[in-house]
Amino acid sequence: MKRIEFISSVGKGVILICSGSCVLAGCSSGGDDSEMNNGGNNGGTDNKVSISLSTLSDVGDQTTKNGILFFRVGAGNTTNDFIATEAICPHQGGKLVWIQNDMLIECQLHHSQYEADGDVIQGPQNASGSTRDLKIYSISISGDTLTATKS
Ligand code: FES
Repeated sequence: MKRIEFISSVGKGVILICSGSCVLAGCSSGGDDSEMNNGGNNGGTDNKVSISLSTLSDVGDQTTKNGILFFRVGAGNTTNDFIATEAICPHQGGKLVWIQNDMLIECQLHHSQYEADGDVIQGPQNASGSTRDLKIYSISISGDTLTATKS
């Protein structure tokens, strides 16, 4: 191998290693949507997000806080009456909303659809790539406070 070929091949390797580590560093830099990382339990960040039950007074009501989409699916005030999931689509970061009439979660960017339990119904429309099942977070209720725990 000639010297110039060796330098050229080594240079490409260094660029790949650098870009790989830079991308990884960018992904792990934290921020508000830590659920986009590998579970959100790194760095000792608080993995609990709470809202007031009064925020979701009617079936179909929804709200987003700290990267979690909360919505009401039942009329009571038990954990079975609420669901907490990711607020951001795993495909390319579109906003997720609960569609009560269709009983599904839909991405507002490429219209992936998910069941209430997070399973994919349909993938991205008119966009390349695929999506994955949504994470459904465990929830607890204490008084007027609904708390989701990122896992
Ligand atoms: S960002 Fe949600 S389907 Fe593309």
